[in-house]
Amino acid sequence: MSAGSIQQPAPGTLPLVARSEAKLKPAIVVTGASSGIGHELARIAASDCSCMMLVARSQDALAKLAEELTSSGTSAHTLPIDLANSDAGDTIENALKERGFYCDVIVNNAGICLAGPAAELGRFEQMQLVDVNIRALSELTLRFLPGMVARGRGGVLNLGSIGSYMSAPNMAVYHASKAYVQSFSAALAAEVADTGVTVTCLSPGVVRTPLVDRLHLREHASSNSRLGQMRVTPPGRVGAVFARARASSFHEWSTAFLRRFFFSCHAG
Ligand SMILES: NC(=O)c1ccc[n+]([C@@H]2O[C@H](COP(=O)([O-])OP(=O)(O)OC[C@H]3O[C@@H](n4cnc5c(N)ncnc54)[C@H](OP(=O)(O)O)[C@@H]3O)[C@@H](O)[C@H]2O)c1
Repeated sequence: MSAGSIQQPAPGTLPLVARSEAKLKPAIVVTGASSGIGHELARIAASDCSCMMLVARSQDALAKLAEELTSSGTSAHTLPIDLANSDAGDTIENALKERGFYCDVIVNNAGICLAGPAAELGRFEQMQLVDVNIRALSELTLRFLPGMVARGRGGVLNLGSIGSYMSAPNMAVYHASKAYVQSFSAALAAEVADTGVTVTCLSPGVVRTPLVDRLHLREHASSNSRLGQMRVTPPGRVGAVFARARASSFHEWSTAFLRRFFFSCHAG
């Protein structure tokens, strides 16, 4: 066993968590499943699991996705909640139990991105970003990880970003939140290395989603604002980056990788 790793249950002993869950079924929980990357991750995950819990605020979008997944054989349930609320973790865990599930894989995808100087953006909105990108992600991971370790199986997939690896003026809180996600995930991955549980941080570059559309990057890049000056990518090239992200390798690569991720979490 590597240094710092978590002790597995002794052979032949049935952990308390496993006994209390004997009648529950494993489920994949995807946060931020109502749009963008989370929507796609849920579709990919559905091909490898029979039970899913889809979490976000937009009930209509969740319901539409749940209908699609259910029609292809997955039991998909929706939970329209605000992850910025401090009781979100309790709500998710209770909803799983009520439906006869436990969390086998948590996909912490929900995220907020804000662009602009920190001194000019609203403090409340920036703290909401911290609540969703850091607090909720940590809370859900810490809530479900002990059960996974006790079972000797499970997975945590956290959404970082290319921004995890650099600080960026005019996206100070967002990039800092993603640096946290990367650091947190890497440390946990080492801790659980020998337990049968995986902790993974997926760090995409720019992907065309509603999150990116809301930033109006093209306008910022062409303006004389400080945000515009920060962006070295001129409007034409921003478009090209989006086009590549849509068309190319990132999606294909990530799809193959994610299929392996979900399959390995649910195998056996
Ligand atoms: N797009 C990119 O270029 C890019 C690059 C790197 C990393 N990422 C990361 O990828 C993840 C997904 O982003 P995306 O691009 O797919 O953006 P998106 O389409 O805006 O999706 C964000 C998701 O998070 C949910 N969400 C936001 N605030 C929430 C809250 N308070 N409570 C519950 N759910 C909330 C949204 O659902 P509701 O609005 O319905 O609540 C939505 O389903 C994020 O963590 C983001 O940082 C994105």
